[in-house]
Amino acid sequence: MKKKNNNVNLYLDKKDYKIINNIINNYECNNAAIIEILIFFQKKYGWISNKIITNISNILKIHPSEIDSIATFYSQIFRSPVGKYVIKYCDSIVCYITKYKKILKHIEQKLKIKSGETTSDKLFTLIPICCLGHCENSPVIMINKKIYTSLSINYINQILDNYINENYKTKSKNTSSNMAC
Ligand code: FES
Repeated sequence: MKKKNNNVNLYLDKKDYKIINNIINNYECNNAAIIEILIFFQKKYGWISNKIITNISNILKIHPSEIDSIATFYSQIFRSPVGKYVIKYCDSIVCYITKYKKILKHIEQKLKIKSGETTSDKLFTLIPICCLGHCENSPVIMINKKIYTSLSINYINQILDNYINENYKTKSKNTSSNMAC
């Protein structure tokens, strides 16, 4: 694998190339490695830009449109920047029966965004997802990697307020430690 490519401006260090090579070597063909490589880049950059698609295309020697169609197909891969906290709400059948729509409407009103959007302060992004595997305790959402079950309006208020407060505290702490310097 070449380390330099004139079409790609992304900086990748030795460790990155080692991880990428390991992923590729785990598969029989480069096509099979696409999703794992996309996940690697998403962890590193937060989302998958066109530049990253070009980079992956050059690494794997696969046409960018093929990488793009896979990246676009999977709801876990973000093709545009997302907020610090990604709220994924389950819209599958059991959560539908247990009225996930009521919870969704409340989240949309509280955060002043629609499904698929990010709040103006870049704190939350709201997106749908298929069954999260906790149907017996539906409705269910996942925020980043944490699952929340048996949601009610009160509970969702409490959850979102905790994230808002936690972010506020971190910001205040960072501001005061900067001032101390
Ligand atoms: S249908 Fe929502 S968690 Fe399974």
